[in-house]
Amino acid sequence: MNGTVVIGAQFGDEGKGKIVDVLAEESDLVVRFNGGANAGHTVQVGSEQFAFRLLPSGIMIGNGVVVDPAQLLEEIDGLRKRGYAVENLRLSDRAHVVMPWHKVIDELEEKVKEGMAAATTKRGIGPAFEDKVGRWGIRVADLLDPVVLRKKLESLLPVKHRIILALGGSDVFVLERIFNQYGEFGGRLKAFVADTSVVIDQAGKNGKSVLFEGAQGTHLCVDHGIYPYGTSSNCVAGAAAVGAGVGPRAIDRVIGVVKGFTSRVGAGPFPTELDGKEAEYLRERGGGEYGTVTRRPRRVGWLDLVMLRMSARVNGFTDLAVTKVDVLGGVETVHAAFAYEHYDNELHEFPANMRVLAECNPVYEEFDGWEDLPPEEWRRIAANGFDALPAKAQKYLRWIEKELAAKLAFVSVGRAREETIDLRKARPPSPPKKAAKASRRR
Ligand code: IMP
Repeated sequence: MNGTVVIGAQFGDEGKGKIVDVLAEESDLVVRFNGGANAGHTVQVGSEQFAFRLLPSGIMIGNGVVVDPAQLLEEIDGLRKRGYAVENLRLSDRAHVVMPWHKVIDELEEKVKEGMAAATTKRGIGPAFEDKVGRWGIRVADLLDPVVLRKKLESLLPVKHRIILALGGSDVFVLERIFNQYGEFGGRLKAFVADTSVVIDQAGKNGKSVLFEGAQGTHLCVDHGIYPYGTSSNCVAGAAAVGAGVGPRAIDRVIGVVKGFTSRVGAGPFPTELDGKEAEYLRERGGGEYGTVTRRPRRVGWLDLVMLRMSARVNGFTDLAVTKVDVLGGVETVHAAFAYEHYDNELHEFPANMRVLAECNPVYEEFDGWEDLPPEEWRRIAANGFDALPAKAQKYLRWIEKELAAKLAFVSVGRAREETIDLRKARPPSPPKKAAKASRRR
């Protein structure tokens, strides 16, 4: 199988959607394998803008995703209304379903967690994964089987009510109503439901290329992220195998998407975080650094190589895509942390202890900034390739490439597809030297 995974190297706001969109054109299948409707990606196609939560840029939702059926049906209907075919969509029968109590419990848990609250998207993601791991989740296959669905609801609902009460809530769910509503969702989704692992395997055997689209970012991963301030699923490349039902050898290439600076929504320590004017500059020029799902203003800061080196390691990046290089235009001195100072120690590895992380001060490498260019100039640069970028931006990008020991494959300088430099494309050969010059030298 020709398998490529695209992974966010930071906190999930890297602009993966656009890179996935570019790569999807050369892939036969696009598979989502983690997260749920907490993800959001914005894709600009011509003058049309799409903001997705569940749907991959392509067509397959693997077992590792938790699915909110109402949200998924809304996105399907939305695409159909805009004239797009969705008949190729396949939804794993093993994917877990986000139920209404998951959202209620998500809200209530956030309130009682106090300092441990992650400022979640309130989409019920954590509680849905809790049920999955606790082995009492409802799976897509169950929505198609009234006997199983009813049985599960009968044993689940009284317990969920007790949990809601204990957390200070009062919501009550009527079994019959949930049974009918979710049974109906199952009926509407039935045509899409499949054993997606088999479909992907077949595609691989037929020589098709598969793109695995990671949701969120490495530092939100429940194992490798800034626990407990991340999300509840695995967001690293290895999760593509588990969450799509393929063996690890199906993955040939791991593309890490790095935004030229750092941003995030949600809680937790952020050593390179900026405030004041510099933060405002990046946030506003980022074309609205506001979460796709929650519209919350993103926290912004300088690039953090301590964090990114960890991302490169745990994902095994082979390639890099660096985004929003245009947004940094006009910044006088671009900073990037290459280490942390923690009292008398210089740390080069990302700490597990959040108290330690909160006490870290970044040690910066400084780069001369490049000019603030109008959008048409960035488009012209994108059309002419990497060498057309301002020399100072090239220096910054090559430094990131060297630090992360992965090949720079894409540079993004705007929202649209054509505002992407694809370094994989063979560069045009340089023109032959003029014979006259050569003869003069002799
Ligand atoms: P949850 O995934 O809704 O439980 O939220 C946990 C944390 O992850 C919060 O800080 C969210 O803001 C963040 N988060 C979840 N999904 C995304 C994403 O796709 N992009 C950026 N942040 C996300």
